[in-house]
Formats: sequence, structure tokens, C-alpha cells
Amino acid sequence: MKALITAGGKGTRLRPITYTSNKHLIPIANKPMIAYAVDAVVGAGIKDIGIVINPDTGREMERALNDMNSWGARFTFIVQEAPQGLAHVVKVSRSFIGEEPFIFYLGDNVIVKGIDGFLKDFLQSGDNAHLVLARVKEPQRFGVAAIKEGRIVSVEEKPARPKSEYAVTGIYFYDQTIFEAVENITPSDRGELEISDAHQYLIDKGYRVGYSEATGWWKDTGKPEDLLEANRLVLDQMLDGREDAISGDVDEKTDIAGKVIIEGGAKVSNSSLRGPLIIGKGCVVENSYIGPYTSIDAECLIRDSEVEYSVVMEQCHIVEADVRIERSLLGRGAKIIKGYSRPRTQRFIIGDQSTIVLA
Ligand code: DAU
Repeated sequence: MKALITAGGKGTRLRPITYTSNKHLIPIANKPMIAYAVDAVVGAGIKDIGIVINPDTGREMERALNDMNSWGARFTFIVQEAPQGLAHVVKVSRSFIGEEPFIFYLGDNVIVKGIDGFLKDFLQSGDNAHLVLARVKEPQRFGVAAIKEGRIVSVEEKPARPKSEYAVTGIYFYDQTIFEAVENITPSDRGELEISDAHQYLIDKGYRVGYSEATGWWKDTGKPEDLLEANRLVLDQMLDGREDAISGDVDEKTDIAGKVIIEGGAKVSNSSLRGPLIIGKGCVVENSYIGPYTSIDAECLIRDSEVEYSVVMEQCHIVEADVRIERSLLGRGAKIIKGYSRPRTQRFIIGDQSTIVLA
């Protein structure tokens, strides 16, 4: 069996980070988002994996995945020339998939308990398509499934009036009938070949479309607030029941409460750390407060500052920031530093579509 993981699309909701990097390489607890998807499919015993990339950032993805391939997976990179929808992704991947059933996994989905249980459900069900559903508070943000007597009877993409609280997650199991579906649907109003339309096609044609329910947490990390929430959940789980993992240097003036990971080569002095949090290799943290649910990636400098509930990517500098930085996402090499020149003003050099919320 093979798996197909998406790593393309436009990532518009995570701009400006996605202007310069593939969204699926944004770190969650200092590990690229795509690695969680690979963990999930490898955890289900599948190592033959197609990664669908776009022409702009695909090379970066190829390099990153090949570099971190401790899974022993065989990656095949499939270029989708333009982001024409998830059913289009399936269409362009047909020759890679061949004749067998397969897993289709959206690379921006993070799930806690793995997917091997869902795979077993699919294999036992005799379904042509088997979708993983999750009960959510805002189903209108997702594909929504209506259920009757244990079967899915309709699927609508982001409906204004959802028929149920069941969101269709980004985890799908298919046999060959999905290829018939993706050939026979037409683009939606937003110009995409929607995966929900392919599912509805299968239902209309009388194919078996079943489901499993994800009862642990599942997160679609399309938006910054979802990403921060995924970071929180991953940190919670990663550090649950585990002793502090401190490889870096921490001086005696630093006090630590809660679970923390401090990676090798990091230096922490005269600071307060309140876990769960992770500080990456080669970071310098001085005279600062790092609060719960914060991930600070490699080689950052945090001095005389306070950071909480944030994702700080590699090589950022936060120096003498007067206010606590919270619920923030800082792209690689970003700097927030105190200026001493007069007049005492705020000065910004920010990329297109950046957001700054002033206290
Ligand atoms: O996460 C679950 C939701 O994913 C489902 O509830 C929806 O039914 C499904 O349509 C999808 O909705 P999103 O709006 O979240 O899809 P998004 O455009 O964010 O793309 C999801 C993934 O697929 C992401 O990894 C980017 C990638 N992608 C997307 C498109 C449209 C591609 O690789 N190529 C594409 O053409």
C-alpha cells in the first residue's frame, strides 16, 4: 500500500511566512509540520510515500525530507503545476499510486493517536472510500459529512449551514474508484476540483463511503491560531509523562517549572522557564521569561524579554522587548529589538501581509 501526502497549495492564510517557505516546513515543537504526516503514515506501516509539491517551493521540501529521512521511507515527489484542488492532486498522482488502495493524507493535518486504527477500519470495512471524521465546533470551516445508519450520505465543502458537527479531516483511504470520481467532477465556484465533490460523486454512484471517528485531537493547521494550538497540543503530548530533557547549559540562577526540553548547545541564564516548552539547539536565552506552550527553534537569541504561547522559528532575535510577546508566530531570522534613538517611536520593516498587534 502507498500513501500520498500533500505539501503543495498556496498557504495564503499563513502569509507572509509562506512567501519564502513551504507552509509544511513551518515547525511545530521544533519539527516541520510535514514530519508529523510522515510519522503518521510510517506509523501505519507505509513507507512508499508520494509527496505532492508545487513548482515554487518543492525543491526546498525535497531537500528537507531527504535530509530528515530517519524513517527509511521512499519518497516520490510529484509536481502539481498549479493548486487546482485536492481532487486534482489525486488526479495527477494516478501513475504513482497504480492499482492498489492508498491513503491520502493532507500534510497540514496533525493528529495525536496515529492512523493505524483507521487503516484497519478501512481494510475491514470493504468501503470504496473511508474518511476520518472529527466532531468540531465550527464545521462550516471544513468539509461536512451527514451520517445515516453508519454510512456517509452526503459531503459538502464548507457549507454555510452544516448538516452535522462532523468535519471531514484530511485523512482518507481509497480504492481505485476515487480515480473515476476525480475524472468526472467539475471545478467549484472557487475554481478547484474539490475532494468533497469527489466524495459526493462516489455516494451518488452508490459506492460505499464509510468513516472512522477521530476521538483524540486532530488539527488542521491552515491558520496561525490553529498552528499555535497544534503547537500547544504537541508540546503537551510530547512532554506528558516524560522527565525534563535538558541537554543544553542552564545556570543556577534560572528557575524551571513544568516540563521543558532544552536542546544541545543552548545556553540559558538568569531566566524563568515555565513549561511545557522547547528551546532549540544553539539558542541563547538571557534574563528572560519563556512561558508555557512556546517553541523556540535553533539559534535564536532571547535577551531581557518575555515570550509565551508562541512559535519562534530559527535565528530570530528578541532583545529588550518591553512587552510580553504572546500568541505570535515569528518567521526565520525575524528580529524584535529595542531601539535607543530619539524620538522614541515604533519602527517597522515588515513583509507583505504581516500582522502587528500593538499593546
Ligand atoms: O483539513 C481538512 C479539510 O481540508 C477538509 O475538511 C476539506 O474538506 C478539504 O477540502 C480541505 O480543506 P482546506 O481548505 O483546509 O484545504 P487546503 O486548501 O488548506 O489544502 C489542504 C492541503 O492540501 C494542504 O496541505 C495544501 C494542499 N494542497 C491544496 C490544494 C488546494 C495541494 O497540495 N494542492 C492543492 O491544489
